[in-house]
Amino acid sequence: MIERTFSIVKPDAVQRNLQGAILKMIQDAGLKIVAMKMIHMTKEQAEGFYAVHKDRPFFDSLVAYMCSGPCVVSVLEGENAIAKYREVMGATNPAEAAEGTIRKTFALDIEKNSCHGSDAPETAAQEIPYFFSQLEIVG
Ligand code: PPS
Repeated sequence: MIERTFSIVKPDAVQRNLQGAILKMIQDAGLKIVAMKMIHMTKEQAEGFYAVHKDRPFFDSLVAYMCSGPCVVSVLEGENAIAKYREVMGATNPAEAAEGTIRKTFALDIEKNSCHGSDAPETAAQEIPYFFSQLEIVG
């Protein structure tokens, strides 16, 4: 099944100039980039994006971190893209991520964990239009 998923290369990775290396790992896994741009999120944009986590203890810290610098947002397409990208990213906590994953290779800690990917089709369907219009998505 061909799916689309939403990806963020997070500020910790962009700040270390790792966006190219991370996008290469994504492409090497067979995922195609069908939309991409660099953004610097406002507090309001980050709060809206992470609204589902608003009652979690780390919410304010996560929002502040996501606004701390630019990130690269993209839409990825491919066979089982949602599950495939989550496999390429590795576990949320880099200490638990498998060898060869983005987070094991590059993440600094559970907050500065270098990348985000949608966790389900319903989430992807909300996250993609949060940052991209139809006109910005090719193919
Ligand atoms: S997941 O992937 O949604 O199941 O992971 P979850 O544990 O629910 O985490 C949701 C997002 O919150 C981030 N997170 C944290 N940020 C800061 N501090 C702590 N302790 C922390 N724990 C989790 C985590 O990186 C997830 O961000 P996204 O961007 O959704 O991957």
